[in-house]
Amino acid sequence: MPVASPTVLRQLSPATTARLLGTWHAGGPAYIALADALRAAVLSGTLAPHTRLPSERELAATLNVSRTTTSGAYARLRELGFAVSRVGSGTVTTLPQRAIEPGPLHRPAGGDAPLSADPLRGGTHAGAPAAVGHLDLWQATPPAPPELHGAFARALDGLPAYLDSGGYEPYGLTPLREAIAARYRERGVPTTAGEILVTTGAQQAIALLARTHLRPGERAVVESPTYFHAMEAMRDAGGRVVGVPAGPLDVDQLASTVRRARPRLVYLVPDYQNPTGFVLSAEERAAVREIADRHGVTVVGDETLVELGLSDERTPPPFAGDGTSPHVVSVGSASKAFWGGLRVGWVRAHPQVIAQLARARQSVDIATAVLEQLAVTELLGRRAEVMAGRRQMLRERRDVLVGRLQEAFPWDVPVPQGGLFCWVDLGLPVAQAFAAAAAAEGVRVGGGPMFTPDNAGATSRVRLTFTRSPAELSDAVPRLVRAWGRVAGRQRPAGSRA
Ligand SMILES: Cc1ncc(COP(=O)(O)O)c(C=O)c1O
Repeated sequence: MPVASPTVLRQLSPATTARLLGTWHAGGPAYIALADALRAAVLSGTLAPHTRLPSERELAATLNVSRTTTSGAYARLRELGFAVSRVGSGTVTTLPQRAIEPGPLHRPAGGDAPLSADPLRGGTHAGAPAAVGHLDLWQATPPAPPELHGAFARALDGLPAYLDSGGYEPYGLTPLREAIAARYRERGVPTTAGEILVTTGAQQAIALLARTHLRPGERAVVESPTYFHAMEAMRDAGGRVVGVPAGPLDVDQLASTVRRARPRLVYLVPDYQNPTGFVLSAEERAAVREIADRHGVTVVGDETLVELGLSDERTPPPFAGDGTSPHVVSVGSASKAFWGGLRVGWVRAHPQVIAQLARARQSVDIATAVLEQLAVTELLGRRAEVMAGRRQMLRERRDVLVGRLQEAFPWDVPVPQGGLFCWVDLGLPVAQAFAAAAAAEGVRVGGGPMFTPDNAGATSRVRLTFTRSPAELSDAVPRLVRAWGRVAGRQRPAGSRA
């Protein structure tokens, strides 16, 4: 059957491909390892579909492998449906059709995971079972709490009060803005409803901030590693993303980077950072606010994970401080505290910033859905009770995953004090190869480099979420053991001869 010319949206140079792949060959036939690494990059969203890959010859020269290896890898990618080749168009990445059709094993995408194909439907690794169930240790989306249904029932009771209005509320419903402001006051930050904008998830808040603050070519500073989709939103706005070391954050380097790079935006996750789990201390928060005011740069503190403390330690005072700096913006969300399916988030900022964002959203979604806002208002009213159950569930799941990992692996598995992730240190710079091997075993994990702005850092780190059920977590570990066996078993100790 003739193959249509593939659509090409972008082209990857051999050097960029090499950087994106990192340490891809951890053992086994090189062409399979290379194909797996490229497939994992497509599945994770770091390598977009419709990208022209370098020629077999160029890639072979850059990776220092034989032409047979690159040609075998491309052939395998085509066989698995992750690439098409045509004379004149070269080899272009695609998503296999069967990978994007929902099936019985399909888990809806969303949360903190690039929208991608189901890894298991893209074919199998040599030696891996043909049809393993898909376990997702990437997407950090806890299930809804038992109180959610009742919250919607009460929201429905309250809905008639809104039915005479047009339903467009670009700033959000007043009772919800009041409830969010009240929560800030409870946390010690004087806040009025006029300083709150309700958004369609924290992700929209980040995207709106990027759109309103960055013009093409302007810089945004983030922690490295950081939340993947925040970097994406900044790049979509034309921004150039620059990283400063995080986990813990290097505040001095942040100050010097802001001085040197003159960014328009700084984006940080102060509480249970995604992915490292670190919490900024009160002093670090104050230092960051000082940087914002001194340089007049907008600093966004993403508090999406702030309610997810899992230890008895008190969290430091909120990122917004006394709430008076016009340069300090806080983003929040109902997604992790309550449920991702609500799609309700918010921004706390100076009223001028709030007005600017409300205007910008007009061309995006105009306003957030009314019933969901009413449900979140209900949930905020019962926050303490809902969160007690939620923390208990997350603690249990964290302990299951940490316990199983510590038993099964020689890795350094720090116990996260909050948030939704284990940020494990593999002890070898093989994160991408391991993520590819895990995907072949049916487990989706986040390889460290993709959380860094240049996609080249954190090569020995992997992010695993513990939001799945204990049964799923337990099921994932033997598969990860097999994946690790393939990757680490073939690493030669440093200094040994081939
Ligand atoms: C730090 C951080 N910010 C924002 C989001 C997205 O939140 P929302 O579902 O409210 O858009 C996530 C999701 O994982 C996250 O981890």
